[in-house]
Amino acid sequence: QEEGNTATGGLRRRRVLVFPLPYQGHINPMFQLAGLLHARGFAITVFHAHFNAPDPSRHPAYDFVPLPDGMSAACTDDTAEPAVIATIKNIFAVNTSCEASFRERLAALLEAPGARDDVACLIADAHLLTLVDVARQQGVPTLALRTGSAACFRCFLANPMLCDKGYLPAQESQLDTPVRELPPYRVRDLMAISRNREEHDLTCKLLSRAVEAARTSTGFILNTFDALETDELATVRQDLGLPVFDVGPLHKISPAASSSILPQDRACLEWLDAQAPSVLYVSFGSLANMSGADLAEMAWGIANAGQPFLWVLRSDLVRGAARVTLPDGFDAVTRERGMVVEWAPQEEVLAHGAVGGFWTHGGWNSTLEGVCGGVPMLCRPYFGDQMGNARYVELVWRTGLALEGELERSKVEEAIRRLMRSEEGGRMRERAQELKRRAAEAITDDAAGSSLLSIDKLVNHILSLSL
Ligand code: UDX
Repeated sequence: QEEGNTATGGLRRRRVLVFPLPYQGHINPMFQLAGLLHARGFAITVFHAHFNAPDPSRHPAYDFVPLPDGMSAACTDDTAEPAVIATIKNIFAVNTSCEASFRERLAALLEAPGARDDVACLIADAHLLTLVDVARQQGVPTLALRTGSAACFRCFLANPMLCDKGYLPAQESQLDTPVRELPPYRVRDLMAISRNREEHDLTCKLLSRAVEAARTSTGFILNTFDALETDELATVRQDLGLPVFDVGPLHKISPAASSSILPQDRACLEWLDAQAPSVLYVSFGSLANMSGADLAEMAWGIANAGQPFLWVLRSDLVRGAARVTLPDGFDAVTRERGMVVEWAPQEEVLAHGAVGGFWTHGGWNSTLEGVCGGVPMLCRPYFGDQMGNARYVELVWRTGLALEGELERSKVEEAIRRLMRSEEGGRMRERAQELKRRAAEAITDDAAGSSLLSIDKLVNHILSLSL
């Protein structure tokens, strides 16, 4: 048991209830957070939807409460709509379909002898406002975890203003207009840019509900660290007027391999062991997808750049295709200097010394994992917060570059060469190494690490809560 403020330091063991949004990029940080609270002595109960359900056998110390959600049909039948709309609708569907069962199961849990003394709070994903409301109605204090960056949440807070000022919904001719209020964003980097009215309205609703989940909670948790987003964190703190806990990079404090939905192919770590430190790691997270034509351009760009590569090709990466097929002749390139896997142990891959660059879609977890790996990043954002994350990589931290516009093999080849072999890429690498040091400092155990201090404050905050 660690010293200092722990949940068992007092007379009884306190319990934290958590409710992740059932997507990989949200499940990982919630389990990482649960892991660190468990290490501080809290008991953990995980409420979860059936869709993308966690495997309890991989977390024997936790209690699990699966909720009938009627979700699987809605969540898997998303081929008819763009991934963004389908995902947003699914997020709302998790809220509504879990509401009644969550109310029932939470009430049952609270009726158990002593439970009202033991349960400290619910930590819910910020996209689960309905469930945050249910908990509060039953007297359970809540905290909201937002799994994106502070900069991204600042955009959530600013969204009504951006609509009032006419930035949104975006006009085609305005896409490259800088958003003066939120540098370095352009209009095209914002989340609610769609001119399709339904998509615009759905996105605005998604953002305002996340803000409400934060505002109606007792505290707000972000997977980031102070040195990475000092000003952005200050703005979020000022605007929310709540305790804001910057506890990242969570994966460095509490790894999440055990919450991976897909099996991770660990053979690639052995392959990396045999490589020089120049491998380009390519992975687009759990949701982004692309056309077959883009995949072919990517493949030939990677081949022509001549760099060793480790490429994650999720079986559903190509829109409308049941499996991923690489162009004829690409096999020979892979045999010569690459490896292709369906899903990798990404946190370990990015911490591996042989990885010298990361081509990413710019999901926030991937971005943070890349920061902690100290590698320069090539960002090809697809949707949501990814465009904004790419802007920060390119223009704020200057640890990588964005690949925009049509995906063409010559552009891909040139971007990889710039990243991996140019002087400019070398400077990006130096800055990436510096950020890696700052990330390590945030979690150093000498009482000065900003995130560890924030975790102490979070633990004290949770211990101060009562039903
Ligand atoms: C989504 C959004 O796209 C993202 O922008 C948002 O910030 C969170 O939700 P996702 O697209 O999956 O997430 O990207 P990301 O946030 O990077 O999360 C992916 C997670 O899957 C990472 O923790 C990564 O380590 C893990 N992963 C990825 C693997 O374990 N293996 C892989 O091969 C690829």
